[in-house]
Amino acid sequence: MMGVTHHAFRHFLRLMSRRAWLVTEMIVARAVLERGADEYVCRDRGQSPILLQLGTGEPSEGARAAELACRLTPYDGININAGCPSSRVQGGHFGACLMHEPGRVAAIVRAVADAVGCPVSVKCRLGLDDSPGEEDLDRFVETLVEAGCATLFVHARNAWLQGLDPRRNRSLPPLRWERVFRLKERFPNLTVVLNGGIPDLESGQTLLEHVDGVMLGRAVDSRPEILVDVDRLFYGDSASERSSGRDLLDRYADYVVAQSEERVPASLLYAPLLRLGYGRRGARRWRQTVVGEVSRLGKHPGEELVRASLERLRALWAALASQESGDDREPAEGMRAC
Ligand SMILES: Cc1cc2nc3c(=O)[nH]c(=O)nc-3n(C[C@H](O)[C@H](O)[C@H](O)COP(=O)(O)O)c2cc1C
Repeated sequence: MMGVTHHAFRHFLRLMSRRAWLVTEMIVARAVLERGADEYVCRDRGQSPILLQLGTGEPSEGARAAELACRLTPYDGININAGCPSSRVQGGHFGACLMHEPGRVAAIVRAVADAVGCPVSVKCRLGLDDSPGEEDLDRFVETLVEAGCATLFVHARNAWLQGLDPRRNRSLPPLRWERVFRLKERFPNLTVVLNGGIPDLESGQTLLEHVDGVMLGRAVDSRPEILVDVDRLFYGDSASERSSGRDLLDRYADYVVAQSEERVPASLLYAPLLRLGYGRRGARRWRQTVVGEVSRLGKHPGEELVRASLERLRALWAALASQESGDDREPAEGMRAC
């Protein structure tokens, strides 16, 4: 998710689940070719299992960008974005508009797979604009399967290419999960991952009756701590050795210190901390304090300042955790509307 699943956020998520598959922000293949892969992908080591999502409409461009990226980071797969409806992305001739051209997407899948030798998947919508898309989607998927695409992520609503911005395109038109169930019935050998409006892990688990996997976007963005239960609920791991609460904060703090030394901006490193403690007692005060720390630190603070800031946050976390009264508790918010 652009602006969300940057390397710092993924590191934070990985501390909570060893098994959940993570996906990078969409990386535009052309940008990788023009500016080099380091800028986009060099920090991904140690985050496996992880997919690199590429935005591209050109097989050779996608192949070259994937090759450069995989030289720096051993991704577990490449995912081609055929679901983003933004006008800028359409202007670049990739994203959701590629659903009009199944042959082109198939060529991208082949070229990328040949270049990098790891599995290539596609993320798409149910269709475009007001098309019911039953046959169109079947044809699209059939073409991808013939090209060797073994996994499909489906955001279970159409994309509107005109008249709806990306944000409204994530809540309109209505979700049609049952269309994705039918797709799985029609292509039993294809790994089908359902995405769109899944509010929590328990709902995700029930959906596994119909599909092979579930992908959660905004639910994890607003409440990343739900990932703590993924290894147990979805993979049957016994007691999780992953971090939560104070332990998570301590482990993430070590990463913040190390990355600050690499001159990663404080605002990016502190972004995951804003989401910690969602809906818990004192959550608002926690968020306000994190925001305050970011502005106090500036873009590239020295190590001493960072350590002192993290120490203040640790102290606040401990104080909030030990508070017994419920008067600072916030009502659980709905998912951030995006
Ligand atoms: C801020 C934001 C950024 C997103 N960026 C991407 C992206 O880079 N690539 C992508 O395939 N989908 C992206 N999406 C869409 C989500 O992956 C997902 O398909 C959509 O939000 C519906 O799933 P959800 O209801 O679980 O959030 C983004 C969504 C949001 C809210």
